[in-house]
Amino acid sequence: MIPHDFDAALFQASLETTRYGRSVRFLESTTSTNDVARADAESGHPVGHVVVADTQNAGRGSHGRAWSSPPGTDLYFSIVEKPDVSLAQLPGLTLAVGLGVAEGIERSVDQRALVKWPNDVWLGGRKCCGILVESASTAQSLGPVILGVGVNVNRTEFPEELREIATSLALASGRDAVARLPLLQTLLRAIELRVNDFVRYGTEHIVKALEPRLALVGEHVSIEGYGIGTLDAILPDGSLRLVTRDGVRTAVAGTLRRAD
Ligand code: BTN
Repeated sequence: MIPHDFDAALFQASLETTRYGRSVRFLESTTSTNDVARADAESGHPVGHVVVADTQNAGRGSHGRAWSSPPGTDLYFSIVEKPDVSLAQLPGLTLAVGLGVAEGIERSVDQRALVKWPNDVWLGGRKCCGILVESASTAQSLGPVILGVGVNVNRTEFPEELREIATSLALASGRDAVARLPLLQTLLRAIELRVNDFVRYGTEHIVKALEPRLALVGEHVSIEGYGIGTLDAILPDGSLRLVTRDGVRTAVAGTLRRAD
């Protein structure tokens, strides 16, 4: 459980990061940690500042969906970043965060974790984590970028519409409970390392490291706007190659689903 009297100094004492979590704020309840992190960034909190909440009442997912965020079981956190990259490179940043999260989850529960392009992490073929990277950028400048991460840690019940597609770390690993604060420490380190790699070496480097963890390769899939086909590969720029009946398609964004 995240203790009600969250002790930031204690949390930081066993945190193996350089920047992430060196400034941290724990909230019992909030609207969306992405919104709080953005406001904190605008009021001068440093790069690496982390906002973590026990529950969110307006948790956001990608494509305008809601992110179910009940109290007492899971992790909802956002990291303030200001990477020295262009707006066009942000999809690669999402892949870097997903790769870091998958590596951190695998280390924590000793289960193979895959990245389901472009922003989910899967355990045993089901979603256990979603990532929402948001930026308030103009054509001229990339402002603070907020890396939002939601992990189903100890949840055993899901809303009807998620029941068939979601899992939690506890369910997937058969554990009674997974401690959230040590998990958060592991995830912050793993994400920081991969974001550093991304800034230093670019999307191509992240894609190479991610390739063995890409979910649904060789399977029959659909990608909104690109049709149905076999997922062939992830390309060096982070797009997906799909072999359809009408030829090869390259998807740069959209929701990837298993097509049965
Ligand atoms: C998705 O899979 O659609 C992305 C989900 C991202 C959820 C996290 S929880 C912490 C942060 N705050 C939010 O409102 N969203 C992200």
